[in-house]
Formats: sequence, C-alpha cells, structure tokens
Amino acid sequence: MAAVVILAGLVLGAAVARAAGADLGWIGIGSRAPGGASSAGPSSVASGGVPGPASTRAAGLASADRSAVAAAPATPLPTAVGIDLAARSTSDPASLWVVVNKRHPLVPLEYAPTGLVWLAGGMVRGEVVPDLRSMIAAAQTDGVPLSLRNAYRSYRDQLVIHADVVKGAGAGYADRYSARPGYSEHQTGLALDLHSASQPACDLAPCFAQTVEAVWAAAHAWEFGFVVRYTPENATVTGYGPEAWHLRYVGRDLAGWMHVNRVTSLEEAFGVAGGAEYAAG
Ligand code: DAL
Ligand code: ZN
Repeated sequence: MAAVVILAGLVLGAAVARAAGADLGWIGIGSRAPGGASSAGPSSVASGGVPGPASTRAAGLASADRSAVAAAPATPLPTAVGIDLAARSTSDPASLWVVVNKRHPLVPLEYAPTGLVWLAGGMVRGEVVPDLRSMIAAAQTDGVPLSLRNAYRSYRDQLVIHADVVKGAGAGYADRYSARPGYSEHQTGLALDLHSASQPACDLAPCFAQTVEAVWAAAHAWEFGFVVRYTPENATVTGYGPEAWHLRYVGRDLAGWMHVNRVTSLEEAFGVAGGAEYAAG
C-alpha cells in the first residue's frame, strides 16, 4: 500500500494541490491553515519519548476516572467507567456522539453546524473549545506544540476535495482516504486534523504517526475528550486507512470509557455498522 500511496503522490502533481484543507497533503492535496505554531519540541520528546504521565497534570479525567484507568486490567472491563451509551444520539448530526461513516451519512447530507469558533488553526464547534484549549495547553507543558491543520469543512469544501482526490488518484483510492461530501466527520465541526510543527512535511502523511504530535495525541488525546478516529487496528471497521492526525471530539466521558475498555472505534462502542462500502453505491 505504501508504494501505491507514494506513487499516487508522484503522479498527482499541481493539478490537485489547490484544494484547501484536504486530508491528503502528503499526496499534494491541501494547504496549511494560518495560525499554527512553528517551533519544534525539545530533543527529549523529539527523540520519540512519550511526555510525562497524565496523572501529573490537573487537566484530564476526574480523579475517580483516573483511578479507574490506573487500575484497568489488560482485558476489557465494560463497566470500568460507568457510562450510559444511550445518553446521546448517534444519528443527530449535532450530537457529540454522532457516528458518521460510509454507512451513515450526515442527515441532511448538506448539514452545517452552528456556533463554529476559530482556534489554533481551524474551525470547531463551540462545545469543543474548552477541551481543545486544555489539550493544547497540556501538550505545551509537555513540550509538544499542538496546532490544527484544519477542522470544520463544509459539504461544498468536501465535494471539491474529494473530487480532486478522485481525479488525481482514482475513486477507489479516494474512498480509502477521503470521505465523500455528506459523509465526513469534518462537516460536523467535531473533527480536526493536527499539524506537525516538528515535521511539517509529515502533515497528513503516513510519517505523521511518528511525529511527537502524533505520539502525544495517541497517548493523551482521550484525556481531553478526543479519539484518534482512524487507526491501523480499526481500519476494517471504520472503512478508512489510518490517519494519526485525525481527532474526533466525543467528550471526556466517552473518550475515557473507550480508552479504559480498549474500544478503538465509535462503530464498536455503539454497535453501529461501518466498513468500506458506501450505503448508496
Ligand atoms: N479523511 C477523512 C476520512 C475525511 O475525509 O473525513
Ligand atoms: Zn481529518
């Protein structure tokens, strides 16, 4: 797959580089949004080490939840952290727990959220702002300069981006890495793509997974209500290839529950269908 990806990147060229905010900058699509940090982290972190333990920071789960995490065994315990998985809708596009995938488009397809706020390089729903601010501050304390490459994208944005990817790399390839309009979490204002200030060339690229930003986010994003939505482990369930930069806000209760119980996808958390096939053709 890597060879296919790199080859696709070589042939795409400038024709597709104009689409703003795409998830595929590594194949020449997308541009860095303004406002991001530009300094690299300290050498101790840049060498690949994971910053200090979450329990040393005030921000994160409530103390009871942190105790549960510390005591969590290797095998899942569904009740390790109490949560009512029916507490929020998984189909209402305004819900923090909405599941958007190839089987479950946004309804309506051209849904647009209200209350978007610009923060650290992208537009997010207002409900995301406090935890996003806390996460960025905690990362900064650990020497990791987190910022966003992009976040909210409209139906129209996604239409242009997806069409460019299809044109440059083919529909099959596009469907593995770029959602069709109406099927992207970015359209909810609850998803964001991290920027790597330490290795900008790895933005939206497979090597992002090795950046200090990705290592930090993989270890700590859940403490602030975010999940790394597309991982190597859940690719079959989500229907997308791994994107170490793509975080989805679900709130601290659900993110904590998923972490403790080793549940890596929203589809598995809620028992919602996913996979690589689109609902309608
Ligand atoms: N890259 C993700 C799947 C999106 O386009 O929403
Ligand atoms: Zn994304």
